[in-house]
Amino acid sequence: MDRIKVTVGVCGGIAAYKAVEVVRQLQDAGLDPHVVMTDSAQRFVTPLTFAAISGHKVISTLWSETAGSGPTDTPQPDGTPQPIEHIAEAQNTHALIVVPATADTLARFAHGLADDFLTTMYLATTAPVIVAPAMNVVMWNHPATQANLATLRQRGVRIVEPGSGYLACGMTGSGRLAEVPTIVAAALEAIAAAAPAAADLTGETVLITAGGTREAIDPVRFLGNRSSGRMGYALAAAAQQRGARVILISAPTALTPPPNCEVIPVTSAAEMRAAVLAQLPCASILIMAAAVSDFTPRHPAAQKIKRTGTLLLELEPTEDILHEAIAHRPPGTLIIGFAAETDSAGLLTLAHAKLERKGADAIVANDVSAPGQGFDSDRNAGTFITRDHQVEIPATTKLAMAHRILDETITLKRHQPVSAHR
Ligand code: CTP
Repeated sequence: MDRIKVTVGVCGGIAAYKAVEVVRQLQDAGLDPHVVMTDSAQRFVTPLTFAAISGHKVISTLWSETAGSGPTDTPQPDGTPQPIEHIAEAQNTHALIVVPATADTLARFAHGLADDFLTTMYLATTAPVIVAPAMNVVMWNHPATQANLATLRQRGVRIVEPGSGYLACGMTGSGRLAEVPTIVAAALEAIAAAAPAAADLTGETVLITAGGTREAIDPVRFLGNRSSGRMGYALAAAAQQRGARVILISAPTALTPPPNCEVIPVTSAAEMRAAVLAQLPCASILIMAAAVSDFTPRHPAAQKIKRTGTLLLELEPTEDILHEAIAHRPPGTLIIGFAAETDSAGLLTLAHAKLERKGADAIVANDVSAPGQGFDSDRNAGTFITRDHQVEIPATTKLAMAHRILDETITLKRHQPVSAHR
């Protein structure tokens, strides 16, 4: 299958060099990025760098190099006129990702100026536009910049908010380019939302758990884990894109839930258990992506514990929600668990044992000790395991992995007579 073409617009800012990594990670995600550079971007990074990385000619001018009077002058070998390059680029791309987006480019976009290739293409495209601004903090906070951003936001442009930190100008504050994986994830989400996958989950109610539960030690402390919730939230976004009604039972995370999900916030394993059992009767698919605490303090203190010496915490096991859900499952409901393991060599054996012990229809095994994937990462890899077969899901973004998990789930639902009465 042809890779999806996207366009990366590079503007003139110190962060232009980070656009090289954005191009590379878009390729990793299976896309085919083409690069457009503004004049000032070429003062920071040469077009050659992007041409070498992307494998395509970099577009850096509106004007054809040979004709001098415009891009339509020279006919193609078959005699038909040359396509107008910025229009062709605008129509053939699946997303325009501008990184870094300078204050100047944001202003040009907001005001509809079109005096170079990038601004002209912006006006001519109907593909989703994602801008990742980077600039000095005072420029970022200036009312003119903020007004331009508000205009663009209102017109449907996705803004990947800059982070805070040390800026190249020596100041500290907002204006630092967002992290590369965040920009790539925003682009993937925009592409998926613009070209929705087949609505093959229409009519299904998908119940998803996400995040890491917290078990109170006292009113200010808890036992937690490193789950960010990203995998569960990606599953919720993907299921919704495919037409499902999505109920997301979420332990605390720093994430914004996908729009239109029914979100049930919970904190502890006991609260998650109650929410899952309450929602289970209306679910046709349950996916337990949450990292549920296996232990909880037997006697949480009513007051903050003082530092008076060695502290011994007595922990008791929590209920196994997945196992209980299987015991209470409505006929026909498919139940899928995760197995997060740190023993990469024994991963599949442990996951198969978990599949049997819990009685789930499938387990997604993932190695959370592998660098660059799992906890706190936008990427993941795993193996979708059923009793009959296993499917490898190579390292990819969590959104792409969520879609692969749903592909396998749908296949399982269609072909496996669910032993609902096990
Ligand atoms: N899970 C659950 N209830 C728990 C613990 C885990 O429902 N109290 C679910 C998780 O959401 C996940 C699956 O069970 O879908 C496996 O979780 P994992 O932590 O990998 O396994 P454990 O059940 O904790 O088993 P072990 O301690 O042997 O790894």
